[in-house]
Amino acid sequence: MTSAMAKTGKNLSVSQADEKGSVAKQRLITVSIMGKPYEVPEDATIMGAIEFAGHQIIRGAGCREGYCGACATIYRLPGDYKIHTGLACMTMVEEGMTLTQVPYVPAEKAIYDIEKLKPNVTAIQQMYPTVFRCVACNTCTKSCPQGLQVMDYIQAAKRGDIATVMDLSFDCVVCGLCMLRCPAEITQPLVGILAKRLYGRYLRKDSPELAERVKAVEDGAYNAEYAELMSMSRKELSDRYYARDSE
Ligand code: SF4
Ligand code: SF4
Ligand code: FES
Repeated sequence: MTSAMAKTGKNLSVSQADEKGSVAKQRLITVSIMGKPYEVPEDATIMGAIEFAGHQIIRGAGCREGYCGACATIYRLPGDYKIHTGLACMTMVEEGMTLTQVPYVPAEKAIYDIEKLKPNVTAIQQMYPTVFRCVACNTCTKSCPQGLQVMDYIQAAKRGDIATVMDLSFDCVVCGLCMLRCPAEITQPLVGILAKRLYGRYLRKDSPELAERVKAVEDGAYNAEYAELMSMSRKELSDRYYARDSE
């Protein structure tokens, strides 16, 4: 699809053939992508709409399924004063939406030797002292496309409660949207990563099941399965992946 086709705005629908060759009409809606209006299918994700409009996403896309956090996006909707946040691969377009991607949010990463830190508030004070600037506005929580209680884990970091920070930030995809909006300029995902490292190094309980599984791997229990996977075509691998039992 070229941007010229998408930009004409003359047709209210496009034809699209499905896998069996049936042709269905898709209604088009108007969205503004990086300041320019485009007609895009109404059932597109933001990422799909950007590509339909003819843009090639070089930075700002990875897994395309809501896991990698590469596709942070901000947008507004007509008649709504709020700036909304979302992942481009998981958020559907809406009529009149104005959007732009934020493929990278600058943040200063603390450099540390985990062996020289302890899992307590001192580590937080030394590595991410900005945490103590939190004004408890909850903007970070409202910005999080993962639905995480971001403010709560920052409050836990202030108390030195590393286990709670690890737990509440566990599903963070490091999209950066919370730190982009934080009035105290805190780098929430990096605080979460520090807590996960501290937890893994000092607080993690031993797991007999994990030790057993690692030993089985080392003993070659899965070598035949690995060999089978390595011999499969891309399609066979894809079919196997989507047919798997998922949690
Ligand atoms: S905590 Fe922040 S960086 Fe992590 S997923 Fe939520 S908004 Fe993105
Ligand atoms: S946005 Fe920043 S200041 Fe507001 S609650 Fe979250 S961490 Fe605290
Ligand atoms: S591309 Fe990975 S979360 Fe959107």
